[in-house]
Amino acid sequence: MGQDFNSLADPNTELNKTYRSVFSPSRQAQILGLLTFFIPRWIIENLPIKRNGDIMAASKIARDTSFQLVQQKKERLARKEKMDPDIISIALESGLFTEEKLVDNMMTFLAAGHETTSSSLTWAAYLLSKHQGVQSRLRQEVHEHISNLNNEVNDTIIDGMPYLHAVCQEILRLYSPVPVTLREAVINTTILGHYIPKGSVIMLCPWAVNRSEELWGPDANEFNPDRWMKSGMANSGGATSNYAFLTFLHGPRSCIGQKFATAELACLLAAFVGKFEFAMTYPDEEIIIKGGITARPKNGMRLNLKVVEW
Ligand code: HEM
Repeated sequence: MGQDFNSLADPNTELNKTYRSVFSPSRQAQILGLLTFFIPRWIIENLPIKRNGDIMAASKIARDTSFQLVQQKKERLARKEKMDPDIISIALESGLFTEEKLVDNMMTFLAAGHETTSSSLTWAAYLLSKHQGVQSRLRQEVHEHISNLNNEVNDTIIDGMPYLHAVCQEILRLYSPVPVTLREAVINTTILGHYIPKGSVIMLCPWAVNRSEELWGPDANEFNPDRWMKSGMANSGGATSNYAFLTFLHGPRSCIGQKFATAELACLLAAFVGKFEFAMTYPDEEIIIKGGITARPKNGMRLNLKVVEW
């Protein structure tokens, strides 16, 4: 969004605290999440309980912040200043959005586009710490294609790194940031011959599908970027069905940010691996996965980083 929220240097601003409170679900939030399987969502969301109050307060703060950002960028546009290439500026320049619609979209991007990308970077750090050979091979490719960090990096350079692509795809396959999501049948229908009455809630589980041995072969549960490196496999990873990779879902309500997100992950990873050698501080530490909107390590994760010559 073209704005530094300063969340590392100053994690305790109102916005940063609120954001964390929404995305680190409490016990109450988990129970409420479960209850939505049995009780209509509108009833749950209107219960006078702390979690609902927290969510209301959080969305107000996020909305106000988004509104201020839109205002600032609108003023720059009015002064005919050079605009940054960020998502809000580009949407504003297009002239296609009212202020309110833009704020609505920013709320969606914040919810849909931030936590997902950050969780994939977390799992990237984890998997590459556990697979030092992959990490070194990737670093070598990055250094060969980007001679130093001050050079401009463009899409041709990023797309010209097949191993970077393979590593990103494999991270997104094995640790799907959205592990499970729901759909409701709007008509009576069937799935694989099984009758599904209207109103049934179906759980789609990218985590399980992406790791299915039937779809991916016996090494489905292993981290193996090379499956995307074989001839003609760069887009399929060797799976015969397009639907074997469910990370962004498919169909009319799939992720609209897929291309953006994969490009973003590739850039982040190239910069991170190019700049640092990293390993788990406690190599035997068991990483417990916490489910929520995204899957993340329950107790965080400790890494040792060493700056490398670039
Ligand atoms: C690794 C990163 C990402 C993953 C794994 C991911 C995954 C998903 C998934 C699984 C859905 C469908 C959820 C559902 O309907 O149940 C979704 C929807 C969506 N995503 Fe992403 N996403 C990522 C990044 C992004 C980014 C960066 C943006 C925007 C900048 C974005 C924007 C959206 C939007 C707007 C939707 C709703 C689409 C609709 O309902 O029609 N996502 N995403």
